[in-house]
Amino acid sequence: MSADPSDDPTAGGFNALRRLERTLPSEWYFDAAQYRRELEAIWYREWVYLCRAETLPEPRSFRTFTVGTQPVVLVRDEQGELRAFYNTCRHRGATLCAAAEGRLPANAITCPYHAWSYRLTGELARVPTHGRRHFLPEGEASLYPVAVHVWRGFVYVNLGGAAGAGAFDDHFNANTAQFANWPLEGLVIGRQLTQRLACNWKVFWENYNECLHCPGVHPNLSSLVPIYRRGIMEERDDPAWEAHAGSDDPAHRGGLRPGAATWSVDGRSLGHEFAGLSDAERRAGYYFMTSLPSHYVVLHVDHVRSTRLLPLGPELTELSVEWLFPRETLADPTVDIGRACDFSAEVLAEDGAVCELTQRGLHARPHERGYLMPEEYDVYRFQQWVRAALARPA
Ligand code: FES
Ligand SMILES: [Fe+2]
Repeated sequence: MSADPSDDPTAGGFNALRRLERTLPSEWYFDAAQYRRELEAIWYREWVYLCRAETLPEPRSFRTFTVGTQPVVLVRDEQGELRAFYNTCRHRGATLCAAAEGRLPANAITCPYHAWSYRLTGELARVPTHGRRHFLPEGEASLYPVAVHVWRGFVYVNLGGAAGAGAFDDHFNANTAQFANWPLEGLVIGRQLTQRLACNWKVFWENYNECLHCPGVHPNLSSLVPIYRRGIMEERDDPAWEAHAGSDDPAHRGGLRPGAATWSVDGRSLGHEFAGLSDAERRAGYYFMTSLPSHYVVLHVDHVRSTRLLPLGPELTELSVEWLFPRETLADPTVDIGRACDFSAEVLAEDGAVCELTQRGLHARPHERGYLMPEEYDVYRFQQWVRAALARPA
């Protein structure tokens, strides 16, 4: 954000940009050198969401990931702690765990190349050699550690080390204490979807940060969430919001259309709703929680949806969605979770299509920058966040 608050173009009695702002330079969305700068300044310094803790159910469970170009292995040690390391052998750099996930055959990570092996806490344990047994001093050549933080069942890593980007809680846009009524740590994945989008990672977030596109791009979502049909996200996006303050009309206050309870194909709840929610939380119908650059979570009365982004290249982004449910929902044969999953998968497909359209269009040589409309104040904030991250000292 701007250092001088009076210079903040988003400040005022309603949410809007109050002066014309240009977008980021188009080449920031495809230039390889810019992409590398963003990996270094953002992706290798911020907390990045990887997966739910439940997907590593027991000691020796492991999963592997690539954050930008960086290989990471997440493993549950003998004590049940999650540990993360660069997935790289200290000998000559081979990948240690080649599979996407699995269970280690022993309490060690053994390199498939020359069989150096490491304890699950990272220390080098064994080096098969005919030469001097102790040519390496004790304590040398442990696996390169990566900081791990588990927040309510969500596993994050930080390639900059635990101190890399400040306190973990700073990484959400919202005060996460306000979601205490959702039993997030006990939820179970009911469906999972991974797809690749032919777009830069920032294109996805910019689309996420505005609803001007909602009436045209998301007809079913805009029917379920009446304020989206107006191309805005919340009550105070309307310059005349005060005239409607206190209105119960969801087209003004936000929330779901009358009679609807959740994001599903017919708006009906799946049942087994979270018991601890307040009336206001029930009535809101959805809450968004964002952790840039990699994660957002949407909370409903009966399920929670977690979406992860990982950059695969300047013009390629992997999206991975986990639909999370209470155990009772998944155990109940009368519940069709597809009513919820299919609905949001459709919305995501609609978003993916416009992201890819944008990516292709950005290559036009005369299009050095675009313009932001007043409603795109959150796109502006995102772009300011990117600029500020790039300007941080290395
Ligand atoms: S590269 Fe791993 S043991 Fe040689
Ligand atoms: Fe959208």
